[in-house]
Amino acid sequence: MSNGSMSFNQSTVDPEDVKRHSKLAESWWDLNGPMKLLHAYNSVRQALAELGANMTGIDASEELVEVAKEHTYNNPSIISNNPTYYFTTVEQHSEQFRNHYDAVVASEIIEHVMDKELFVKSCVKTLKPGGIIFITTPSKTRFTQIFSIFFAENILGMIPKGTHQYDKLMTPEQLKLLLNQNNCPVEVTRGITFNPLTSRFSLTDSTRMTFAVKAVKNAN
Ligand SMILES: C[S@@+](CC[C@H](N)C(=O)[O-])C[C@H]1O[C@@H](n2cnc3c(N)ncnc32)[C@H](O)[C@@H]1O
Repeated sequence: MSNGSMSFNQSTVDPEDVKRHSKLAESWWDLNGPMKLLHAYNSVRQALAELGANMTGIDASEELVEVAKEHTYNNPSIISNNPTYYFTTVEQHSEQFRNHYDAVVASEIIEHVMDKELFVKSCVKTLKPGGIIFITTPSKTRFTQIFSIFFAENILGMIPKGTHQYDKLMTPEQLKLLLNQNNCPVEVTRGITFNPLTSRFSLTDSTRMTFAVKAVKNAN
């Protein structure tokens, strides 16, 4: 990796997707800006660095890694826990950090990657045996296609246009299979829904919109 570019042989990176996200760098932390739904989503996720966890963050966008660093420097509750950030992909990171982490969180990433098998394999590779992985992603359903993509992106402008492609989404069963194939059985699957009237996300039993899985890497 050099000068803001990375070379990809077998890669999870969709360069167009990373470019699209990088363009949002300046307004990333604007709570009422284009990423406002991602901020609202934090109500069902935990701010681990703020809670005192020893965190490492990675992203395939150099601009967004810089945004994360700057946000950290400006937040005493985060910087005191000294998080580390890398501009890299998980497949590259997993070469150096094999069997390393107690937990991996991949929230709203897998729907953007090219090679989902490599992505899951690499995430699991970075986990210690017994380590936990949490993944959240929109469900591959007609509901998502109509409401989260067509209306939210193209009509209402609640999500930047072009953020999601239906063909790149997964069902909970497809993700479960990939994790199982990588020695990491899924223990919990939960649905997540968004109420446009209150602009709030909440956990639910239905996985038709978005879902979260928790899987644990087997010890052998
Ligand atoms: C929707 S944002 C989610 C950001 C963050 N995880 C969150 O939920 O707030 C998707 C992020 O995935 C990153 N990304 C896309 N493809 C990637 C890949 N193959 N490896 C690592 N990061 C990737 C993008 O640069 C972008 O920052």
